[in-house]
Amino acid sequence: MSVLRRHAEEACADELATLAEVPGPRPYGWSLTPSAVRTFIMGGELADGTVVEPKYIGDVRRVEVAIATLATDRALLLQGDPGTGKSWLSEHLAAAICGDSTLLVQGTAGTDESAFRYGWNYAKLLSEGPSREAMVESPILVAMRTGGIARVEELTRVSPEVQDALLGTLSEKAVPVPELGIEVQAQRGFNLIATANRRDRGVNELSSALRRRFAVVELPAPATIALEVEIVRTRLLALGKGLSLPGEVPPAQAIHRLVTVFRELRAGITEDGTLSLKQPSGTLSTAEAIGVLSQGWTRAAYYGGGELSADHLADGLLGVAIQDERDSTAVREYVLAVLDNRPDWEDWARALRARL
Ligand SMILES: Nc1ncnc2c1ncn2[C@@H]1O[C@H](COP(=O)(O)OP(=O)(O)OP(=O)(O)O)[C@@H](O)[C@H]1O
Ligand SMILES: [Mg+2]
Repeated sequence: MSVLRRHAEEACADELATLAEVPGPRPYGWSLTPSAVRTFIMGGELADGTVVEPKYIGDVRRVEVAIATLATDRALLLQGDPGTGKSWLSEHLAAAICGDSTLLVQGTAGTDESAFRYGWNYAKLLSEGPSREAMVESPILVAMRTGGIARVEELTRVSPEVQDALLGTLSEKAVPVPELGIEVQAQRGFNLIATANRRDRGVNELSSALRRRFAVVELPAPATIALEVEIVRTRLLALGKGLSLPGEVPPAQAIHRLVTVFRELRAGITEDGTLSLKQPSGTLSTAEAIGVLSQGWTRAAYYGGGELSADHLADGLLGVAIQDERDSTAVREYVLAVLDNRPDWEDWARALRARL
């Protein structure tokens, strides 16, 4: 049996082992030096010629701020639009710093305080009364006890009252357990990375008390088309390898075109800045572009003789771009006003028009 998706520390075990050899002072409990963590995230070449693949593609300064924050006693909040790599960066930071990215709480509207603190094994609680053995530690409590990095995904989906259960953890660095008359104190090395996005429906504000305890690093959508194409291409290569997808990685032109359409619709203006457009309501994120291309890729391999065409991408693209009638109008107008007049884009215009 083989797992579908390996954790970052397993997928990158060789790189992490090599980077752990890089000498230099490191914050208490860290497996790597802060500079080696940066190399792991951003990619680079080591003195012995080992090439480290980039994980996060974007602004190195933001990544440095994130790493430097984790070396202090302030927690880190990665914030940004959907699909900008927040969870991805959080996982790789945790893997690099403490070798374990799995101490994770997935925030939802139903998350309760026990997910941030502790709960009870009720069978044991009833038979033995409250005891250390009957107590069920949250991943955050485990990280505190072991001096590791805890992760909270989608913190703003959690209700504000429950969010505030983190206040004590982040300021006192301790969680009292009154039932047992003890407290769990965080060991050195403990810190917390949370992610939050503001654009999705159903997100709550972060209370100002909690916000003050985080250093916020904003992860933006890729600034340039070249950068976004590079992110998509790098991830497709890795996905193709990881999942053993058949056939060839989508050609550069297909990636470039799909990313162009996504960016233009997202920004409401053509790349050359000459025409404003209606924006569909979807996020049209980089992550979704990767999804559409990987689906087109397998479809072309299984049903299209391996040759990826606009037809293989059009369904996925429209599935992401169109959520209601207004989106459909926006996309139709875009095809007629922009793609129809773009030399060489006939196949894209035709494939999309046929489905609208
Ligand atoms: N700048 C980037 N560098 C590398 N990969 C990226 C980048 N932006 C997005 N990705 C890729 O996009 C995919 C989705 O990213 P991720 O799940 O981290 O997004 P997110 O910001 O957490 O989104 P959401 O708010 O929906 O949870 C991942 O496969 C990730 O590799
Ligand atoms: Mg996420």
